[in-house]
Order: sequence, then C-alpha cells, then structure tokens
Amino acid sequence: MRLYPAFFKAAFSWMDPELAHTLGFAGIKLAHRTGLGRALSRVTAPDEGAEVNVMGLTFPSPFGLAAGFDKGATGTHALTQLGFGHVEIGTVTGQAQPGNPRPRLFRLVRDRAVINRMGFNNDGAEAVAPRVAAALQTLAQESIRTGRRRPVVGVNIGKTKAVGLEDATADYVRSTRVLAPYADYLVVNVSSPNTPGLRQLQELDALRPLLLAVRAEADRVTGRRVPLLVKIAPDLADEDVTAVADLALELGLDGIVATNTTIAREGLGLRTNHDDVAACGAGGLSGAPLRRRSLEVLRLLKEHAGEQLVLVSVGGVTTARDVMERLDAGASLVQGYTAFLYEGPFWAGRINRGLRRAAPEGR
Ligand code: FNR
Repeated sequence: MRLYPAFFKAAFSWMDPELAHTLGFAGIKLAHRTGLGRALSRVTAPDEGAEVNVMGLTFPSPFGLAAGFDKGATGTHALTQLGFGHVEIGTVTGQAQPGNPRPRLFRLVRDRAVINRMGFNNDGAEAVAPRVAAALQTLAQESIRTGRRRPVVGVNIGKTKAVGLEDATADYVRSTRVLAPYADYLVVNVSSPNTPGLRQLQELDALRPLLLAVRAEADRVTGRRVPLLVKIAPDLADEDVTAVADLALELGLDGIVATNTTIAREGLGLRTNHDDVAACGAGGLSGAPLRRRSLEVLRLLKEHAGEQLVLVSVGGVTTARDVMERLDAGASLVQGYTAFLYEGPFWAGRINRGLRRAAPEGR
C-alpha cells in the first residue's frame, strides 16, 4: 500500500515547497536520531549482489541521491539509512552564500517536476568539510558493526556567486583543498543554471584549466587519487557533450555526471498550464520532463566514450525500471532527486527492492 501520496497531499502539497523540503529533511534526521532509521535500514538496504565497483570504490548499489538535497552534509547518514547507495553532497562553494531570494523552488505536481533557482545556498567549504569527515567516520563504524558495505559519499563543488568567472578556478581549488581529503569522489559542477555565467565554464577553453587545477590540487592535498568527474547540462548541443567527453578522456578524468537541470521547458504544458510554468520564472527544470534528454545524453556519451569513462546518469528517474534502463544504456551509477519529493522516504528502498526482483538468479 502506498501511503505517501495521500500524506504528501495532506501535509505538504499546500505548503511552500522549500519549507516542505526543510520539514521533510528534518523528519528524516529525527527518524535517524530516534533509532527508527536504523530499523528502517534493514528494510531499505540494497542486496549485496547490487554492489557496483567503479573508480576504485565499491558502491553498495547503483542508485544514489543526486547533489542538491544534502547541500551541507547535515543528514548524510540518515539519508543512507533510507537505502541510497551513495549521497552526493553539495553543491558546496568556496565561500558560504545565501543563494537567491525566495521563493526559489516550485512544484509542477501534475508533471512530476520542479523548477528551482536555489543558487547554491550553502555554508561554504570550510564549514561543510568537517561534517563530511564526521559522516564518513560514522558510516565506516556502522559498516563494521553491520558487516554491510559503507555507502559512498561524493562531494560536488561549484563557484561562489560573488567570485568573477575569471577567478573561478581559484574558488574551485579552494573547495578542493578543503573537501578533497574527505570526498570518496569529487564532482566539478559547471552546469547549474542558477549562478550567472557558470555554464560558460563548460566551454573547453575554460574547462580545461579548471579541471587540471582541481586535479592537481586534489592530488596535492590527499595521499590518494580522488576520482574526479564533471557534471554537465542537458542543454549542451550533442557536439558539445562529446567535446566534454573527449576533454575528460584527454585529462584522465574518471567520469561524467549527466545531467543537471534544464533551462528548457519542453515536455511541460500538457499537464501544467503554460501560465503556471511561466509564473515560476527562471530556473532549472528537473523530474519526469527531463527523462528523455537525460537518457539521450547518456546514450551519446556511451557511444562516444565507450568503456573509458564512468557514466553517472541523472534526470527524470522514478522507478527501478528507469534505473535499469540507464544501466542497460551504459550508466554505471544512477542518481535521482525530484522523484524523492513526490515518492517520499521509502523511494530508494522501493527501488532497491525492484532491482532485487529484476536481478538474474544467482547474481
Ligand atoms: C538540484 N540539482 C543540483 N545539482 C547540482 O549539481 N548541485 C546542486 O546544488 C543542485 N541543487 C538542486 C536543487 C534542487 C531543488 C533540485 C531539484 C535539483 C540537480 C540534481 O542534482 C539533478 O541533476 C537534477 O535534478 C536532475 O535529476 P532529477 O531531479 O530529475 O532526478
């Protein structure tokens, strides 16, 4: 029986979406503190057979929580207890910043989508780093206690709004210096539509020095080779997608996270009225309408970069079947965010059960 849709309607649907997010996340953290999370994790946890070995890491399952939900590593352990095999923290910027004025998050319920222009509201790299370290430590202890694989914690970094594009590299390097020592993997986010100019960093002349500098700094401050990925926008033209893949190969990057939210409004308007969409204003669209382009970008990357890059597919994933479709299309890992808001706290657990049912015998 699915109770969450009725609960969502009664409790959250009338509420400001950002407030609903804050309260929902607070509920998840409370469940964790009271011990309910630990009980829950027995039901939601992925099967051992679901493990994925990539980039020198073992992910307990191919499915994880995309960046933007746990921006400050304030509920990472609690989220893994819901069944996510990895959590991507962030986006974290070099300096703390408040993000854009509210309202900045809008639901398009009938389209199973949201539009956001949060603008990287976050506490800054120095504040987030010790929280990531603490989360890793707790997760490692739990893994010893339970004998289960430790969920993976990635860190996604972006540019501080007040820092000019010409100084972007220094800002990313600052975050790398502080966060790389605690990141299982690092993602350079150059694709959010809500920081003016950020997506220009996807142009090769800007991206090459940026990625080289982050790679060098991560190597300098850690005694290991932190896996490095770049997160791209679905709005890139196909030839720009493949150009970024070529650059990633040239620089020895580990993979690509595809995709971020879109500034397009395609796939909407059939269910949500055009005026309601327009009233949300600028921002990135995510959820079901992004599914098609996200899958298309994945296929393009698979065809172009073959086996040489780890592909993390994100955009419009709701069901275990969606996850399997991405795995079949060449993704090693799959992430989701928007469907979490509509499907509720048992979403990842449900996906893990679906993957279990679909797994061939004896896997
Ligand atoms: C995001 N996303 C995001 N991505 C990122 O790299 N850094 C970020 O800070 C955020 N913040 C953020 C906030 C909100 C409210 C949403 C809905 C999304 C993008 C997210 O990680 C993902 O790439 C897209 O949302 C597409 O996946 P879904 O939501 O369709 O599963």
